[in-house]
Amino acid sequence: MSDRSRDRPDLSVDIAGLHLRNPTIVASGVLGFSLKILRRAVRLGAGGVISPSIGIRSSEGFRAPTVVKVDCGYVTAMGLPNPGASNFAAELGKLSSDFPLIINIFASETNEFQRIVSVMEATPAKAYELNFSSPELDSESKDVAKRIESISEVVRVVRAKTKRPVIVKVSPETEARKIAVAAHDNGADAISAINSVPAMAIDIETGYPILSNKAGGLSGRAIKPIALKYVYEISKNVDVPVIGCGGITTWQDAVEFFYAGASAIQIGSSVGERGLRVFGNVVDGIRSYLVKKKRASIREIVGFAHRR
Ligand SMILES: Cc1cc2nc3c(=O)[nH]c(=O)nc-3n(C[C@H](O)[C@H](O)[C@H](O)COP(=O)(O)O)c2cc1C
Repeated sequence: MSDRSRDRPDLSVDIAGLHLRNPTIVASGVLGFSLKILRRAVRLGAGGVISPSIGIRSSEGFRAPTVVKVDCGYVTAMGLPNPGASNFAAELGKLSSDFPLIINIFASETNEFQRIVSVMEATPAKAYELNFSSPELDSESKDVAKRIESISEVVRVVRAKTKRPVIVKVSPETEARKIAVAAHDNGADAISAINSVPAMAIDIETGYPILSNKAGGLSGRAIKPIALKYVYEISKNVDVPVIGCGGITTWQDAVEFFYAGASAIQIGSSVGERGLRVFGNVVDGIRSYLVKKKRASIREIVGFAHRR
């Protein structure tokens, strides 16, 4: 290794053709659909951006309250509000062709996944992330997300529709490892692990659940060790790149996920607490760490923890 590569480690990642200048990605949903904000996240350091889940039809989602701050993170049930695939695709026409956007998709039938991808093929999106994992999916979409056969079918059909990388996002509610195997066997290029963890908060004055949907998903620091375990298990047992997600706030968290086997990481809830500068800070920290450890790239540490 040359001294030059030790001083300036390579932070870029390549996941089945999805090239990102650094391994930090905005997690789905936390910044909404505004292109202005998504562009700002990239300007302030994010290597990539994942859109909130987009469905075939527009939806306003659940009524407020949709988010509760708890002492270890957030409990959220937004109901996947979104403008619908065609409207979002029209908006994406304003993006430059090199913008590192990944589109997250949810649907209740294979045919709908296929139709959404067809619409999105005309946009500059770089990859798709299939949401088989939100605690707030409607019951039909949840049925698809729970059954390995339906996930396999969706992935096969989407794979046939696009040459862009296809990422499957798994949930701690399901048999994530088996789903990862099935997704990979049917053509998925990567696995995102994990979505939020089913949770609830109750108002002790009224005695009722606070969220209008009653239950939601816990995100933030509390779920980091859970997410880390899923990343470790999936990357150890399935030969597929894994994108870690869950509670990542600092560069130390990110490095921990690389050792566990993540090739890249997503940051969600901590954007709410630290603002968009969290991306630049995490990237700077990873770079300094690699220099200190005399590593020329992140690839050199991905999955290191499996050696013992
Ligand atoms: C406000 C909010 C909205 C979210 N919306 C989506 C979504 O539309 N689609 C999805 O797959 N995940 C969604 N998520 C889950 C996140 O992408 C992520 O998987 C989860 O929050 C764990 O990461 P974190 O602890 O860094 O937030 C959302 C999370 C939050 C907090």
